[in-house]
Amino acid sequence: MERPKDFVPVSLAPDPVIEYYKQFVDVSLLRENLKLTPTERVRKMQEMGRVYAELRRAGENLSRQIQAQPAGTLLPMGEQVRRAVYPGSFDPPTLGHLDIIQRAARLFDELIVAVAVNAQKQSLFSLQERVQMLQECCRHLPNVRIASLEGLLARFADQVGACAIVRGLRAVSDFEYEFQMATMNRQLAPEVDTCFLMTHQQYAFLSSSIVKEVARLGGSVDALVPPNVAHKLRERFAPKTAGTHHPSSE
Ligand code: COA
Repeated sequence: MERPKDFVPVSLAPDPVIEYYKQFVDVSLLRENLKLTPTERVRKMQEMGRVYAELRRAGENLSRQIQAQPAGTLLPMGEQVRRAVYPGSFDPPTLGHLDIIQRAARLFDELIVAVAVNAQKQSLFSLQERVQMLQECCRHLPNVRIASLEGLLARFADQVGACAIVRGLRAVSDFEYEFQMATMNRQLAPEVDTCFLMTHQQYAFLSSSIVKEVARLGGSVDALVPPNVAHKLRERFAPKTAGTHHPSSE
């Protein structure tokens, strides 16, 4: 191929910012840039770098609409973040949930624990309380953020740029429901895969309802939930003695 007369080899200063943004630059733009002096080219690339940084920030702000707490660690720009969503009602979060969160946080760069508003369940704790409890017990996990989820999980996962939805499987009985949900979510968001983790055998029998039942009847839940959740449950049920009717726990 014949070189244009004004061809000048593109020799950009080894500025890491420029090196990174080079990958986004359209070849035709580079061709235009050939007419510029090297200094002008560098200036233009830096300007574009700033534009891309702005765009990236705008994108991140969108995912922050989900009331997530600030990410503890940020990956260097340009690296693809493998982000997953772990949804659930978490009413309240249990050690079984925490086990899944900790393991998923090791598998993905970022994990968003999405606290859902489940219209089919009457919750004991408000959405805000559930988000707060999870924030407290995930404080030691820098790549975990807590968000609230209203509406479709698949849409949410798409919006935050997740590549996967994480679900815990406790027993064979979970399978059918999970299979149905995973299939529907794939239909709604084909780019997002559902990833199943086997719940630790220690927590295979656990559910939020069982925990609430034990707490409501005055039993100890210390071995079932994180300490802050145990405290919150004691607080919630303290004024009522065992056997007293407590409508919100039903
Ligand atoms: N350890 C301990 N307990 C666990 C557990 C684990 N690893 N995994 C699940 N559980 C418990 C939960 O605490 C819950 O207990 P509960 O029924 O007593 O409250 C139970 O098992 C069921 O959990 P899960 O299947 O996660 O139900 P959920 O209500 O917590 O969450 C959503 C369901 C939020 C994921 C689902 O309703 C959803 O995606 N909603 C968004 C709307 C939507 O997109 N709908 C279409 C879906 S295709």
